[in-house]
Amino acid sequence: MPASLIGKTAIVTGAAIGIGRAYAKVLAREGCNVAVIDIMPEILELPNELERRGTKAFAVVGDVSDPKVVRQFVDDTNARFGGVDILINNAGKCWVSSSHDDLDKTLADYDGMVGTNLKGEYLMGRAVIPGMIARGGGDIVNIGTDHGVTCGSPRELCPHLDTCPWADSPRPTGGSVVFDVYDSSKYATYALTYAWAKALRPHNIRVNGMAMGATDTSMLRNFLGDAVTPELAATWMRPEDSAQVVADILKEGPNGRTGEMINLCHGRLTLLEPEREPIYVTQDSIGYDRRHSA
Ligand SMILES: NC(=O)c1ccc[n+]([C@@H]2O[C@H](COP(=O)([O-])OP(=O)(O)OC[C@H]3O[C@@H](n4cnc5c(N)ncnc54)[C@H](O)[C@@H]3O)[C@@H](O)[C@H]2O)c1
Repeated sequence: MPASLIGKTAIVTGAAIGIGRAYAKVLAREGCNVAVIDIMPEILELPNELERRGTKAFAVVGDVSDPKVVRQFVDDTNARFGGVDILINNAGKCWVSSSHDDLDKTLADYDGMVGTNLKGEYLMGRAVIPGMIARGGGDIVNIGTDHGVTCGSPRELCPHLDTCPWADSPRPTGGSVVFDVYDSSKYATYALTYAWAKALRPHNIRVNGMAMGATDTSMLRNFLGDAVTPELAATWMRPEDSAQVVADILKEGPNGRTGEMINLCHGRLTLLEPEREPIYVTQDSIGYDRRHSA
C-alpha cells in the first residue's frame, strides 16, 4: 500500500518552468502543501495554479546559490507550513563548456553552473536537514543527469558519432567533451545523494536522486537550437513522466529505498524500476536492513 503524501510539505527548487514545475504540480495533486523558489518572476504565478488542487502553496523569487535567500525561504516555509517533509533539489543551469575555454568564460561557467547545480543543492540540503531530523524523518530527491551513466554528448554535437560503437542510445558512461563544468556539477549529485543517504538513514530521512535523461524543456531546446526536430523531440521524456516517478519514490514511505540514483536514461522506460541491490549505500553502511523492517 503506497504511503500517502496528503498534508506533507514539499519544497521544489527551480519550479517556474520545465521539470520543476511538473514536480510541484504532481506533489500538489498528491495532497502536499508546496513551497517553490526560482530566479524567474513567473514563479509567483504558480501558487494560484497549485492551490486549485486544494492544497496551500507559497512562492519566492530567489537564487538557490545565495545562502541568505535559502535560509529565509526555508524559515518562511517552516513558518507557513510548520516544517518541511520533502525537498526536491531541481534548480539547474546548463550550457556548453570545455577544457580549452579561456579563464574568464570558465569562471562565469563555474559560478553559474556549479553555483546553482551543486552549491544550491548543498545549501538547500543543509537548510532543511536539521528540521527534518527534529520532525523524525523526511525525503530528499536530487536531480542529477544520465551523463553519469551514459556518454552525455547530444548526438547532434558529438564529434565522434561516425566511429562511436554506441551511436544508438542509450550510450555508455563517460560524460561529454562539451559538458565538463555541467557534468562536474551534476556528478556531484551522486556524491551528495550517497553521503546524505548514509548519514541520514538513522534519522529516517531517505535521500535518492534521478539520473535524468533527455526531457523536453526549454533547457534542452535552447541548448540544441535548430538541431531540434519533431522526430528528435519525440524521443525525449515529458516533464510529467518523471514527475510521476518522483511521486512514486516518495510514496514508498519511510521503509523505501535510499541512496539510489533512479535510472531514467535516455532510451529507457520512464518508470520507477524495482529497488536495485545497493552498491554504494549498502545495508551495512546505513546499519539498517530496510527489506526486513516493515
Ligand atoms: N531537460 C533535460 O533534458 C535534463 C536532463 C538531465 C537533467 N536535467 C536537470 O533537470 C533540472 C531541471 O531542468 P529543466 O530541463 O526543467 O530546465 P529549465 O531550464 O527548463 O528549468 C530550470 C529552472 O531552474 C531555475 N533556476 C536556474 N538557476 C536557478 C537558481 N540559481 N536559483 C533558483 N532557480 C534557478 C530556472 O529559472 C528554471 O525555472 C535541472 O537540474 C537540469 O540540470 C534536465
